[in-house]
This record gives sequence, structure tokens and C-alpha cells, in this order.
Amino acid sequence: MGVETEYYDPLIGRGIDKLVRKNTRLIYAESPGSQSFEVQDIRALAEVARARNLWLLADNTWASPLFCQPLGLGADVVIEAGTKYLVGHADALLGFITSNARAAKFIERSTGHLGVCPGSEETFLGLRGLRTLDVRLQRHQETGLALAEWLKARPEVVRVIHPGLPGDPGHAIWKRDFKGASGLFSVILKPCAKKALAAFLDHLELFGMGYSWGGYESLVIPFDCAAYRTATKWNPEGPALRFHAGLGSLDDMKADLTAGISRQQES
Ligand SMILES: Cc1ncc(COP(=O)(O)O)c(C=O)c1O
Repeated sequence: MGVETEYYDPLIGRGIDKLVRKNTRLIYAESPGSQSFEVQDIRALAEVARARNLWLLADNTWASPLFCQPLGLGADVVIEAGTKYLVGHADALLGFITSNARAAKFIERSTGHLGVCPGSEETFLGLRGLRTLDVRLQRHQETGLALAEWLKARPEVVRVIHPGLPGDPGHAIWKRDFKGASGLFSVILKPCAKKALAAFLDHLELFGMGYSWGGYESLVIPFDCAAYRTATKWNPEGPALRFHAGLGSLDDMKADLTAGISRQQES
């Protein structure tokens, strides 16, 4: 359809102005990035978008509308995967788009042309999820922060990437623009053999290995964005793991991970 894209450094802020070309129509931000968790300066991007007459679209899935409202920061359109915190049980395909009045007529027209329409069962599950979103997110936040702090103190861990932790590169903007943190964050381990990492991950009892987070389950997934990251370099000190703190007991999670780390050290 003749659409060209160019990736940008998520920390670019107002510097994105230099990337704007004659045919640029929109900026599409995901904040924080769902693997490496850079927090974007949506206000700065919005200023450039306004001045250059572009649209600013923001993926706000990590925070959900309870913890961040990018429309208030200047975004025109907010996109969220309802499959995650809204539905909350990882069992329905659903998404939602919110926008300001300027963008609404275009979105309405596109959804009509594309015939986008959620199923009734999915809509029911989304509405049901909405009723407990608040309490679930508070719990994801609390357990996620506690787990991140605990992992940070482990000798096997080089660093934890969680915008809610003081000292994280994204903490200042997170504090300015967000009301809370969800349960998704990453950890960089000290270098270890692939076999040792597999021994850690393969026999966890509570942490499943899956991509679509935001449900009640706790998850862990190894990742390496080096191959698909083009605007910046991804070169961590050791293996990277993304965790999702689910709704279970923090002590059980720590016990499961402690056993995993012992297997890693022994192998
Ligand atoms: C930040 C973010 N947005 C959107 C999505 C897309 O989710 P889905 O494929 O369930 O629509 C994901 C999936 O992992 C995500 O992490």
C-alpha cells in the first residue's frame, strides 16, 4: 500500500523532528517498549507531531488506561492489546483504540472499511475483565516491583530493567507521566552457558514460557532483540529474560526462581 516505515531510538524525544520527511504522516510509539522498557517522552513527541502536522499513535498496553493516559500527554490515538490486562486471563482476542476528536472520524471510517468487529464473547470477557482491572493491576504492580527488587539483589543478575525502580533510565519520565507500573519487566543475567539457562527455565513450576502477558499467570521468556533492532544496538552483558509477575504468591514465585537458579548454577 506504499507505506514506508523508519524505526527510531525510543529515547529520541524532540530529536524525532530530524527524522520527519516530506511523506511522513505519523509517529507510532510503544512506551515502555515491551522487551527493553525504554520509556518514551510522549509529550516531546506530541510537540513535534503538532508542529509538523503528524499523527501520534501510542501503544499503551503495558500501563493500561489506569496507569497512563497518553491522550492527555498529547497523543492522538491510543492502541491497546485487550488480550493482556483488560481480559486478564489470556483467553480472548480483543483490542481497543481510543482517540481524540481529530482522529476519531478516520478511525471510524477505517474500522468500517476493514470490517473490524470484536466477537460478542470477546466483548463480554473484556467487559468482565474491566470490573477487576483495578485490583488486578495493583497486585501485578506490587508483586512485579517486589520481584524486580529481589532479582536485583541476586548475585546472578547484572541489572533489572523496570521503569518503576529508582535508578532505572526511564524512571524520571515514568514518574512524571505514569500513575503506576504493571507486572512486566526484564532482567539481564551474568553470562552463562545456554545449557545452564535452559536448566533454569525448563523446569519452572509457576512461571510458564509464553509471549502474551497480562493474564493471571506468571511468565518468563528469554529474548534477544539484536536481530530485529535497527535504530539502536542491543548488546546486553548476558542473557536477557522478560518476566511477567502474575497474581500468585510472591513467596511461591521466589521459591520457583530460587530452585531454577540452583539448577542453573549446578549445570
Ligand atoms: C506492547 C504490546 N502491544 C501489543 C501487543 C499485541 O498483542 P496481541 O497480539 O494480543 O494483539 C503486544 C503483544 O505482546 C505487546 O506487548
